Amino acid sequence: MADAGTTRGGAEPLNAARLRAALGGPATMWTDIRVVAETGSTNEDALKQAVDGAPEGLVIAAEWQTAGRGRQGRRWLAGPGAALTFSALLRPQPVPQATRGWIPLLAGVAAARGLRQMAGVDARLKWPNDVLADGGKLAGLLAEQCGDAVVVGIGVNVLGSEPDLPVATATSLERCGAGGTDRTALLAAILRELEHRYLRWRATGPGDAVASGLQREYRSLCDTLGRQIRVQLPGGRELAGQAVDVDPAGQLLVSPHRGELVAVSAGDVVHVR
Ligand code: BTN
Repeated sequence: MADAGTTRGGAEPLNAARLRAALGGPATMWTDIRVVAETGSTNEDALKQAVDGAPEGLVIAAEWQTAGRGRQGRRWLAGPGAALTFSALLRPQPVPQATRGWIPLLAGVAAARGLRQMAGVDARLKWPNDVLADGGKLAGLLAEQCGDAVVVGIGVNVLGSEPDLPVATATSLERCGAGGTDRTALLAAILRELEHRYLRWRATGPGDAVASGLQREYRSLCDTLGRQIRVQLPGGRELAGQAVDVDPAGQLLVSPHRGELVAVSAGDVVHVR
C-alpha cells in the first residue's frame, strides 16, 4: 500500500481528515479510516487486517486498485482517481450466520442512499446489490467473510465513459451528469448510511431484516422486482421468469415460466424487461 497524497489524474484526492470530520469524530463506528494512493485490492487489505485481529470499524479507501476484485471471481478495474473504491470491516456479533446474508444487501441500500443524497442520481438496486443509474451499473459491491469478520467492498464509477469502465453495461457519475461529485463527501455519506442501517439491523433480532425495516427499504429500492429476468445460477444453470419478491432471508423469489416459485440465494441477474 502507498500512502495517499496525490492521485495520478482523475478527481480531487480523497481527504482523510475531512472524511473523519464529516463522520462526526468519536461518535462514529468508523474508528480507523485509512486512505492510500495505490494498493492491489482494499478488500484484500481489509481481510488481512481482519486476520490480524483488527476490530470492527476499519475503513480502507484507495485512489487506485491494481488488482480490484469483483463478484464471482471477476476483476474490477478503474483508472487512478476515476472511482471511489473502499472496504469496511464488520464483525456482526451476535447476528446468527443464517441472517448474515443480508449484509451485502444492506450495504447496497446504503450505497444507493449515499449516491442519491450526494450525487443526486436515481440510484436503484439490481438484486443482490449492483447499484444502477440511468440503466447502467454505477457501483458494485463485494462482501467477503473471514471467520467472524465480513469485509464489505464498494466501487463507484465516478469518471469515465465506455472504454474506461469495468464492464460494457457500466455507467459512471460523469455519464449520469454528476462527475463533479465530491468523492470524500460521497464516501462519508455512504459510511453514515451503512452505519445507521447496520447498527439498527444488528440490534433488532439480532439481524432481523423484517423487524428492522431493512427488507421493506430494500424492496422499495429494488429495480429487479416485477421484471422478467434471467439468473445465472452457481454451477452454470440458468433460470428465467419474473422476479416477484425478496424474502425475509434476502433470497430473490422467482416465478419461472413453468413450475413453482424458486428462492435464489446466489446468482447473476439480467433484467430482460
Ligand atoms: C462487482 O460488482 O463485481 C463487485 C465489485 C466490487 C469492487 C470493490 S472496489 C473496493 C473493493 N475492493 C475490491 O477489490 N473490490 C471491492
